[in-house]
Amino acid sequence: MKAIILVGGEGTRLRPLTYTVVKSMVPVVNKPFIEHVILRLAEHGINEIVLAMGYKPDSIFEYFRNNSEPNIKLSYSLEEKPLGTAGAVKRAGSQVKETFFVLNGDVYTDIDYTDMLNFHRNNKAKATIALTRVEDPTKFGVVETDQNGRVQRFIEKPSWDKVTSHWINAGIYILEPDVLNYIPEGEFYMFERAVFPEMLEKGEPVYAYASDAYWIDMGTPEKYHQLNCNILGGNCVSPLHSGDKIVIDSSSKVHPTARITPPVIIGGGCVIEEGVELKGPVVLGKGCLIKKGAVIENSLLWDNVTVGENAFIINSILASGVNINDKARLEGQTLNREPGPATDKN
Ligand code: GDD
Ligand code: MG
Repeated sequence: MKAIILVGGEGTRLRPLTYTVVKSMVPVVNKPFIEHVILRLAEHGINEIVLAMGYKPDSIFEYFRNNSEPNIKLSYSLEEKPLGTAGAVKRAGSQVKETFFVLNGDVYTDIDYTDMLNFHRNNKAKATIALTRVEDPTKFGVVETDQNGRVQRFIEKPSWDKVTSHWINAGIYILEPDVLNYIPEGEFYMFERAVFPEMLEKGEPVYAYASDAYWIDMGTPEKYHQLNCNILGGNCVSPLHSGDKIVIDSSSKVHPTARITPPVIIGGGCVIEEGVELKGPVVLGKGCLIKKGAVIENSLLWDNVTVGENAFIINSILASGVNINDKARLEGQTLNREPGPATDKN
């Protein structure tokens, strides 16, 4: 079965991390985020994946060229200019003849895709939207249903006075191919603001599959940090994490006096010097150097990060190549070695 994954957004809310890496490629427990998503789909037999992309596609091509999965057929649909969520699917799905999945490319979930597909078929739905419950629905698409789960209304990013439910669009759809007829070709078009409201107006069978499964939109530094901690802590599963509480690559050197409190993952070629303390959840990418006496707690370090002697880092995210001075104290920071384009400095 086919899934189109939308990975064309700029990831502005995940800055400064997305100044150097596109949102779908940010490392989650040391593997690109999108790889976790693709392997979860494959567990449910959804193994024909189309990545609908626009913004900075090169790193995605390169990664999967070197890390192809034997049982997954991966292809790409490239937009010259952003076509919006629906416009991107129209382009990527032009050859689709059967029921297919669409996923927002920044969502991670334990949802049972197989059960969702059965639900879609049992209802003879034209579109099924997965729903999840959140505290603050104003950042999402609110979906109102009747008692049979049929969608009545779809309101994207409502103000609080328009919030009628805490169940929101989880960014996972099952669609019949003729839904593509609602989308004009080559134009910017959104499911959330156009296709779903139009289908509802026409009385089409649009259903909602409400689920309490683990769900997160990792599109902000806080949520991205949380996803890493949740996978490490076992709050959600990933095909790319063994579940072990301490994983140290055999090519890394950890001084015998270093103290490690799980959960901690250490990538290849790291050096952890004398008296270092790693208080999990902590992830270190490849080639990190943690100098004598440094303390790192509840933090994510990407590749080739250097932490100076006796530095203290808590609740932080450090992108690849960041250097932290001796005795520095960092709390709740998200740092990239590139501060971002000049236009964003104001
Ligand atoms: N190919 C492509 N082209 N992808 C796009 C485009 C585009 O023009 N615009 C956005 N995307 C991708 C983003 O990369 C992201 O993976 C996904 O579509 C959703 O875009 P976001 O910008 O992250 O939307 P959101 O989080 O504000 O809201 C959406 O997701 C919520 C759930 O997380 C909506 O679908 C809401 O209704 C939903 O509740
Ligand atoms: Mg999002």
